[in-house]
Amino acid sequence: MSLPRVLSGIQPTSDSFHVGNHLGALKNWVEMQNTHECVYFIADMHAITVEQDPAQLRERTLSSYAQLLALGIDPKKSILIVQSQVPEHAQLMWIMSSITGIGEANRMTQFKDKAAKGGASSASVGLLTYPILQAADILLYQANAVPVGEDQRQHLELTRDLAIRFNGRFGNTFVVPEPFIVKATAKIQDLQDPSAKMSKSSPSGCINLLDPLKTTEKKIKSAVTDSDTEIRFDPANKAGVSNLLTILSAYSGIPINDLVTSFEGRMYGDLKKETAAAVLEFIEPYQGRVNELLGDKAELESLMHDGATRAREIAAKTVADVYSKIGFVS
Ligand code: TYM
Repeated sequence: MSLPRVLSGIQPTSDSFHVGNHLGALKNWVEMQNTHECVYFIADMHAITVEQDPAQLRERTLSSYAQLLALGIDPKKSILIVQSQVPEHAQLMWIMSSITGIGEANRMTQFKDKAAKGGASSASVGLLTYPILQAADILLYQANAVPVGEDQRQHLELTRDLAIRFNGRFGNTFVVPEPFIVKATAKIQDLQDPSAKMSKSSPSGCINLLDPLKTTEKKIKSAVTDSDTEIRFDPANKAGVSNLLTILSAYSGIPINDLVTSFEGRMYGDLKKETAAAVLEFIEPYQGRVNELLGDKAELESLMHDGATRAREIAAKTVADVYSKIGFVS
Protein backbone atom coordinates (compact mmCIF):
# COMPACT_ATOMS: atom_id res chain seq x y z
CA MET A 1 0.00 0.00 0.00
CA SER A 2 1.35 3.42 -0.81
CA LEU A 3 1.83 5.97 1.96
CA PRO A 4 -0.12 9.24 2.09
CA ARG A 5 1.79 12.06 0.44
CA VAL A 6 3.13 15.23 1.99
CA LEU A 7 4.22 18.40 0.23
CA SER A 8 5.69 21.57 1.66
CA GLY A 9 8.01 24.41 0.69
CA ILE A 10 10.08 27.23 2.14
CA GLN A 11 11.33 30.43 0.54
CA PRO A 12 15.08 31.08 0.20
CA THR A 13 14.65 34.72 1.19
CA SER A 14 17.10 34.81 4.08
CA ASP A 15 20.65 33.61 4.79
CA SER A 16 19.27 31.39 7.53
CA PHE A 17 16.07 29.67 8.54
CA HIS A 18 14.76 30.86 11.90
CA VAL A 19 13.26 29.17 14.95
CA GLY A 20 9.72 29.98 13.69
CA ASN A 21 10.35 28.13 10.43
CA HIS A 22 11.94 25.27 12.30
CA LEU A 23 9.36 24.70 15.02
CA GLY A 24 6.33 25.74 12.95
CA ALA A 25 7.09 23.62 9.92
CA LEU A 26 10.49 22.05 9.33
CA LYS A 27 10.53 19.86 12.43
CA ASN A 28 7.29 18.29 11.20
CA TRP A 29 8.76 17.85 7.72
CA VAL A 30 11.52 15.73 9.22
CA GLU A 31 9.17 13.65 11.37
CA MET A 32 6.67 13.03 8.60
CA GLN A 33 9.33 11.27 6.55
CA ASN A 34 8.66 8.21 8.72
CA THR A 35 4.96 8.00 7.97
CA HIS A 36 4.50 9.68 4.57
CA GLU A 37 5.94 9.85 1.11
CA CYS A 38 7.33 13.38 1.14
CA VAL A 39 8.11 16.04 -1.43
CA TYR A 40 9.82 19.16 -0.10
CA PHE A 41 11.11 22.14 -1.98
CA ILE A 42 12.87 25.48 -1.96
CA ALA A 43 10.35 28.01 -3.27
CA ASP A 44 12.72 30.10 -5.39
CA MET A 45 9.91 31.08 -7.77
CA HIS A 46 7.97 32.52 -4.86
CA ALA A 47 11.10 34.38 -3.75
CA ILE A 48 11.22 36.53 -6.90
CA THR A 49 7.81 38.10 -6.26
CA VAL A 50 9.61 40.82 -4.31
CA GLU A 51 12.76 42.59 -5.48
CA GLN A 52 15.82 40.37 -5.09
CA ASP A 53 19.43 40.04 -6.09
CA PRO A 54 20.25 37.14 -8.49
CA ALA A 55 23.64 36.21 -6.99
CA GLN A 56 22.13 36.26 -3.51
CA LEU A 57 19.16 34.14 -4.60
CA ARG A 58 21.55 31.53 -6.01
CA GLU A 59 23.59 31.46 -2.78
CA ARG A 60 20.52 31.31 -0.59
CA THR A 61 18.96 28.52 -2.63
CA LEU A 62 22.08 26.39 -2.22
CA SER A 63 22.31 27.27 1.44
CA SER A 64 18.61 26.55 2.06
CA TYR A 65 19.01 23.16 0.42
CA ALA A 66 21.98 22.41 2.69
CA GLN A 67 20.03 23.62 5.72
CA LEU A 68 17.16 21.23 4.97
CA LEU A 69 19.58 18.33 4.61
CA ALA A 70 21.27 19.31 7.88
CA LEU A 71 17.91 19.37 9.65
CA GLY A 72 17.36 15.77 8.62
CA ILE A 73 15.55 15.77 5.29
CA ASP A 74 16.89 12.57 3.81
CA PRO A 75 17.09 12.63 -0.01
CA LYS A 76 16.93 8.83 -0.04
CA LYS A 77 13.57 8.87 1.71
CA SER A 78 12.10 12.11 0.42
CA ILE A 79 12.13 14.07 -2.80
CA LEU A 80 13.93 17.36 -2.12
CA ILE A 81 13.82 19.85 -4.96
CA VAL A 82 14.30 23.41 -6.08
CA GLN A 83 10.96 24.63 -7.46
CA SER A 84 12.31 26.30 -10.62
CA GLN A 85 13.96 23.04 -11.70
CA VAL A 86 10.55 21.43 -12.11
CA PRO A 87 8.77 23.44 -14.84
CA GLU A 88 5.44 21.73 -14.17
CA HIS A 89 4.92 24.07 -11.19
CA ALA A 90 4.62 27.03 -13.58
CA GLN A 91 2.56 25.05 -16.08
CA LEU A 92 -0.06 24.07 -13.53
CA MET A 93 -0.03 27.54 -12.00
CA TRP A 94 -1.27 29.02 -15.28
CA ILE A 95 -4.23 26.66 -15.36
CA MET A 96 -5.09 27.31 -11.72
CA SER A 97 -4.87 31.08 -12.23
CA SER A 98 -7.52 30.73 -14.91
CA ILE A 99 -10.02 29.35 -12.42
CA THR A 100 -9.18 31.83 -9.63
CA GLY A 101 -11.22 35.00 -9.18
CA ILE A 102 -9.43 38.34 -8.91
CA GLY A 103 -11.44 39.06 -5.76
CA GLU A 104 -10.34 35.73 -4.31
CA ALA A 105 -6.67 36.56 -4.89
CA ASN A 106 -7.15 40.08 -3.54
CA ARG A 107 -8.48 38.75 -0.25
CA MET A 108 -5.26 36.98 0.73
CA THR A 109 -4.05 38.68 3.89
CA GLN A 110 -0.36 37.93 3.26
CA PHE A 111 -0.62 39.74 -0.07
CA LYS A 112 -2.28 42.70 1.60
CA ASP A 113 0.40 42.84 4.31
CA LYS A 114 3.32 42.50 1.93
CA ALA A 115 1.85 44.91 -0.61
CA ALA A 116 1.23 47.46 2.14
CA LYS A 117 4.80 47.15 3.39
CA GLY A 118 6.37 47.80 0.00
CA GLY A 119 3.80 50.41 -1.04
CA ALA A 120 0.69 48.96 -2.71
CA SER A 121 1.37 50.56 -6.10
CA SER A 122 4.78 48.92 -6.41
CA ALA A 123 3.52 45.38 -5.61
CA SER A 124 3.99 42.96 -8.53
CA VAL A 125 1.33 40.81 -10.20
CA GLY A 126 3.51 37.88 -9.06
CA LEU A 127 2.93 38.86 -5.45
CA LEU A 128 -0.81 38.81 -6.06
CA THR A 129 -0.78 35.43 -7.80
CA TYR A 130 1.74 33.95 -5.36
CA PRO A 131 -0.93 31.84 -3.52
CA ILE A 132 -2.05 30.36 -6.84
CA LEU A 133 1.49 29.15 -7.48
CA GLN A 134 1.41 27.71 -3.98
CA ALA A 135 -1.82 25.88 -4.80
CA ALA A 136 -0.19 24.49 -7.95
CA ASP A 137 2.84 23.32 -5.91
CA ILE A 138 0.57 21.29 -3.68
CA LEU A 139 -1.93 19.95 -6.23
CA LEU A 140 0.80 18.94 -8.67
CA TYR A 141 1.90 16.16 -6.31
CA GLN A 142 -1.59 15.09 -5.20
CA ALA A 143 -0.55 15.83 -1.63
CA ASN A 144 -2.79 14.67 1.21
CA ALA A 145 -1.15 16.79 3.91
CA VAL A 146 0.79 20.06 3.98
CA PRO A 147 2.86 20.76 7.12
CA VAL A 148 3.04 24.55 7.62
CA GLY A 149 2.77 27.23 10.29
CA GLU A 150 -0.45 29.09 11.07
CA ASP A 151 0.37 31.97 8.68
CA GLN A 152 -0.13 29.65 5.70
CA ARG A 153 -3.65 28.52 6.62
CA GLN A 154 -5.45 30.91 4.29
CA HIS A 155 -3.31 29.81 1.33
CA LEU A 156 -4.22 26.22 2.12
CA GLU A 157 -7.90 27.12 2.15
CA LEU A 158 -7.54 28.68 -1.30
CA THR A 159 -5.75 25.53 -2.49
CA ARG A 160 -8.62 23.37 -1.27
CA ASP A 161 -11.20 25.65 -2.90
CA LEU A 162 -9.36 25.51 -6.23
CA ALA A 163 -9.00 21.72 -6.10
CA ILE A 164 -12.70 21.29 -5.35
CA ARG A 165 -13.65 23.78 -8.09
CA PHE A 166 -11.48 22.08 -10.72
CA ASN A 167 -12.71 18.61 -9.74
CA GLY A 168 -16.30 19.86 -9.94
CA ARG A 169 -15.88 21.40 -13.38
CA PHE A 170 -13.61 18.93 -15.10
CA GLY A 171 -13.99 15.68 -13.20
CA ASN A 172 -12.07 14.22 -10.31
CA THR A 173 -8.43 15.22 -10.81
CA PHE A 174 -6.87 16.50 -7.60
CA VAL A 175 -6.56 15.19 -4.09
CA VAL A 176 -8.01 17.88 -1.78
CA PRO A 177 -5.17 18.50 0.72
CA GLU A 178 -5.42 19.03 4.47
CA PRO A 179 -3.25 21.54 6.31
CA PHE A 180 -1.04 19.91 8.94
CA ILE A 181 -0.58 22.57 11.60
CA VAL A 182 0.67 21.60 15.04
CA LYS A 183 -1.07 23.97 17.40
CA ALA A 184 1.62 24.18 20.10
CA THR A 185 4.25 25.55 17.71
CA ALA A 186 2.09 26.93 14.88
CA LYS A 187 3.02 30.50 15.69
CA ILE A 188 6.35 31.25 17.33
CA GLN A 189 6.39 34.87 18.44
CA ASP A 190 8.93 37.64 18.06
CA LEU A 191 11.27 37.94 21.08
CA GLN A 192 11.04 41.73 21.17
CA ASP A 193 7.35 42.01 20.27
CA PRO A 194 5.63 38.84 21.52
CA SER A 195 2.34 39.95 19.97
CA ALA A 196 3.80 39.47 16.46
CA LYS A 197 5.01 36.29 14.77
CA MET A 198 8.76 35.72 14.58
CA SER A 199 9.96 36.81 11.17
CA LYS A 200 13.17 37.89 9.48
CA SER A 201 11.79 41.41 9.09
CA SER A 202 12.42 42.02 12.80
CA PRO A 203 16.07 40.93 13.28
CA SER A 204 16.37 41.55 17.02
CA GLY A 205 13.32 39.41 17.76
CA CYS A 206 14.23 36.60 15.38
CA ILE A 207 16.48 33.64 16.28
CA ASN A 208 18.31 32.64 13.10
CA LEU A 209 19.59 29.09 13.25
CA LEU A 210 22.86 30.11 11.57
CA ASP A 211 23.59 33.18 13.69
CA PRO A 212 26.73 33.09 15.87
CA LEU A 213 25.92 31.32 19.16
CA LYS A 214 26.72 34.43 21.20
CA THR A 215 24.21 36.49 19.19
CA THR A 216 21.47 33.97 19.82
CA GLU A 217 22.25 33.77 23.51
CA LYS A 218 22.10 37.57 23.75
CA LYS A 219 18.81 37.80 21.85
CA ILE A 220 17.14 35.23 24.11
CA LYS A 221 18.49 36.87 27.26
CA SER A 222 17.06 40.22 26.19
CA ALA A 223 13.65 38.82 25.22
CA VAL A 224 10.71 40.99 26.28
CA THR A 225 8.64 39.44 29.12
CA ASP A 226 6.32 41.39 31.47
CA SER A 227 6.34 43.26 34.76
CA ASP A 228 4.98 40.27 36.67
CA THR A 229 7.35 37.65 38.14
CA GLU A 230 5.44 34.39 37.82
CA ILE A 231 6.45 31.83 35.19
CA ARG A 232 3.27 30.29 33.82
CA PHE A 233 1.87 29.42 30.41
CA ASP A 234 -0.75 31.99 29.45
CA PRO A 235 -0.30 33.20 25.85
CA ALA A 236 -3.11 35.78 26.08
CA ASN A 237 -1.76 37.60 29.14
CA LYS A 238 1.89 36.52 29.26
CA ALA A 239 2.86 36.28 25.59
CA GLY A 240 6.62 36.69 26.05
CA VAL A 241 6.98 34.15 28.88
CA SER A 242 4.68 31.68 27.11
CA ASN A 243 6.70 32.01 23.91
CA LEU A 244 9.93 31.22 25.78
CA LEU A 245 8.25 28.21 27.42
CA THR A 246 7.10 27.00 23.98
CA ILE A 247 10.61 27.30 22.54
CA LEU A 248 12.23 25.66 25.58
CA SER A 249 9.72 22.81 25.53
CA ALA A 250 10.26 22.17 21.81
CA TYR A 251 14.07 22.06 22.08
CA SER A 252 14.30 20.21 25.39
CA GLY A 253 11.46 17.75 24.78
CA ILE A 254 10.06 18.54 28.25
CA PRO A 255 6.28 19.17 28.36
CA ILE A 256 5.28 22.75 29.20
CA ASN A 257 3.45 21.74 32.40
CA ASP A 258 6.58 20.05 33.75
CA LEU A 259 8.63 23.11 32.89
CA VAL A 260 6.19 25.38 34.71
CA THR A 261 6.46 23.19 37.82
CA SER A 262 10.25 23.21 37.64
CA PHE A 263 10.29 27.01 37.43
CA GLU A 264 8.06 27.56 40.46
CA GLY A 265 9.52 30.32 42.62
CA ARG A 266 12.33 31.02 40.13
CA MET A 267 13.08 34.12 38.05
CA TYR A 268 12.57 35.09 34.41
CA GLY A 269 16.37 35.15 34.08
CA ASP A 270 16.45 31.40 34.81
CA LEU A 271 13.86 30.74 32.12
CA LYS A 272 15.88 32.73 29.59
CA LYS A 273 19.11 30.99 30.55
CA GLU A 274 17.61 27.52 30.16
CA THR A 275 15.90 28.45 26.90
CA ALA A 276 19.18 29.77 25.47
CA ALA A 277 21.01 26.61 26.56
CA ALA A 278 18.44 24.31 24.93
CA VAL A 279 18.47 26.28 21.66
CA LEU A 280 22.28 26.39 21.54
CA GLU A 281 22.50 22.68 22.18
CA PHE A 282 20.48 22.12 19.04
CA ILE A 283 22.06 24.74 16.80
CA GLU A 284 25.72 24.11 17.49
CA PRO A 285 25.95 20.67 15.82
CA TYR A 286 23.42 21.79 13.22
CA GLN A 287 25.69 24.64 12.12
CA GLY A 288 28.57 22.17 11.79
CA ARG A 289 26.50 19.99 9.46
CA VAL A 290 25.43 22.95 7.32
CA ASN A 291 29.04 24.11 6.88
CA GLU A 292 30.15 20.64 5.93
CA LEU A 293 27.38 20.30 3.33
CA LEU A 294 28.13 23.74 1.87
CA GLY A 295 31.73 22.62 1.34
CA ASP A 296 30.63 20.40 -1.56
CA LYS A 297 28.42 22.46 -3.85
CA ALA A 298 28.74 19.98 -6.72
CA GLU A 299 27.20 17.31 -4.50
CA LEU A 300 24.35 19.65 -3.53
CA GLU A 301 23.65 20.42 -7.19
CA SER A 302 23.70 16.75 -8.05
CA LEU A 303 21.18 15.99 -5.27
CA MET A 304 18.95 18.81 -6.58
CA HIS A 305 19.00 17.37 -10.09
CA ASP A 306 18.23 13.85 -8.88
CA GLY A 307 15.32 15.27 -6.89
CA ALA A 308 14.00 17.18 -9.90
CA THR A 309 14.08 14.05 -12.07
CA ARG A 310 12.08 12.10 -9.49
CA ALA A 311 9.63 14.94 -8.92
CA ARG A 312 8.97 15.38 -12.61
CA GLU A 313 7.82 11.77 -12.88
CA ILE A 314 4.92 12.61 -10.57
CA ALA A 315 4.38 16.19 -11.77
CA ALA A 316 4.29 15.40 -15.49
CA LYS A 317 1.48 12.88 -14.93
CA THR A 318 -0.67 15.48 -13.18
CA VAL A 319 -0.04 18.10 -15.86
CA ALA A 320 -0.86 15.62 -18.65
CA ASP A 321 -4.11 14.70 -16.91
CA VAL A 322 -5.03 18.36 -16.35
CA TYR A 323 -4.19 19.32 -19.96
CA SER A 324 -6.37 16.55 -21.28
CA LYS A 325 -9.27 17.39 -18.93
CA ILE A 326 -9.17 21.07 -19.83
CA GLY A 327 -9.33 20.36 -23.54
CA PHE A 328 -5.77 20.92 -24.74
CA VAL A 329 -4.98 18.77 -27.80
CA SER A 330 -2.21 16.32 -26.98
P1 TYM B 1 7.91 30.70 4.42
O1 TYM B 1 9.14 30.52 3.61
O2 TYM B 1 7.55 32.10 4.81
O3 TYM B 1 8.01 29.88 5.76
C1 TYM B 1 8.31 28.49 5.79
C2 TYM B 1 7.49 27.81 6.85
O4 TYM B 1 7.75 28.36 8.14
C3 TYM B 1 6.51 28.65 8.79
N1 TYM B 1 6.72 29.82 9.69
C4 TYM B 1 6.37 29.84 10.99
N2 TYM B 1 5.78 28.92 11.78
C5 TYM B 1 5.56 29.25 13.07
N3 TYM B 1 5.92 30.45 13.60
C6 TYM B 1 6.50 31.41 12.86
N4 TYM B 1 6.86 32.56 13.41
C7 TYM B 1 6.75 31.12 11.48
N5 TYM B 1 7.31 31.82 10.46
C8 TYM B 1 7.28 31.01 9.38
C9 TYM B 1 5.55 28.99 7.65
O5 TYM B 1 4.21 28.84 8.05
C10 TYM B 1 5.98 27.97 6.60
O6 TYM B 1 5.34 26.73 6.81
N6 TYM B 1 4.30 30.43 1.04
C11 TYM B 1 5.21 29.61 1.83
C12 TYM B 1 6.12 28.73 1.00
C13 TYM B 1 5.40 27.82 0.07
C14 TYM B 1 4.66 26.66 0.43
C15 TYM B 1 4.19 26.11 -0.81
C16 TYM B 1 4.35 26.04 1.64
C17 TYM B 1 5.36 27.94 -1.29
N7 TYM B 1 4.63 26.89 -1.81
C18 TYM B 1 3.42 24.95 -0.81
C19 TYM B 1 3.58 24.88 1.62
C20 TYM B 1 3.11 24.34 0.39
C21 TYM B 1 6.08 30.56 2.62
O7 TYM B 1 6.30 31.68 2.23
O8 TYM B 1 6.67 30.00 3.71
